[in-house]
Amino acid sequence: MTLSGKNALVTGSDQGIGQAIALRLAEEGARVVVNYRANRQGGEDTRARIQQMGRQAAAIQADVSDIADLGKLFQQAVAALGSIDILVNNAGIEKNAAFLDITREDYQQVVDVNMTAPFLLTQAFARHRREVKAPGKVINISSVHEELPFPHFTPYCMAKGGLKMMMRNLAIELAPLGITINNIAPGAVETPINRKLLSDPKLLQPLLANIPLHRLGQPQDVAGVAAFLASSDADYITGTTIVVDGGLLWNYSEQ
Ligand code: BGC
Repeated sequence: MTLSGKNALVTGSDQGIGQAIALRLAEEGARVVVNYRANRQGGEDTRARIQQMGRQAAAIQADVSDIADLGKLFQQAVAALGSIDILVNNAGIEKNAAFLDITREDYQQVVDVNMTAPFLLTQAFARHRREVKAPGKVINISSVHEELPFPHFTPYCMAKGGLKMMMRNLAIELAPLGITINNIAPGAVETPINRKLLSDPKLLQPLLANIPLHRLGQPQDVAGVAAFLASSDADYITGTTIVVDGGLLWNYSEQ
């Protein structure tokens, strides 16, 4: 086990990619603080499954779009396990709307959850690591859309692109504290964020045609990379994005 003795906070770990990451980090020996917004059952389920592995876990309810409350979430996480060594900024939302129609409120919510929350949580985490005088690891769950345009999802792409530049900047700025920071950029993964797409063959088929490996990703495909980045095997990796997309991002062919 590569993460024995480490403590992790994973936002949005009641379902999907976040849940798979929380479980995988625990399998590797970490203690985990689970975070959920509305899906209490999912959050408690993740916590219970981690405890069944014999690891310490806690589940904290917090909406990461309540940016004024993020400090409280982080302090509760520290209080639950004594310290946090690994921060996984996973919670994410997207809204499908044409640029001409998107509302100010939807824009703000998407940017807050996907970009402002990781900014503020990473700041709280870095201050905490400085205080305890120990290194740490930040992993942001970004998207292929930190690079790739996605019409009708402009705020989502803006936020993921912002997350990419935050990560690159902080790799330099936080290095003196021994903190590494990297992004994982998933492609199309079978999770609740894709519920509509998954249930409609007319939407799903063209997407699969775009993926060279010709299948959707599974949350476990992402979780394994997160476990690697959280481990000491990745100590010399900072400021980079690992794309986990079955080849979707750079797919191009001509007949
Ligand atoms: C989005 C999905 C989309 C996938 C590939 C992800 O970031 O959340 O809705 O299917 O990218 O485009």
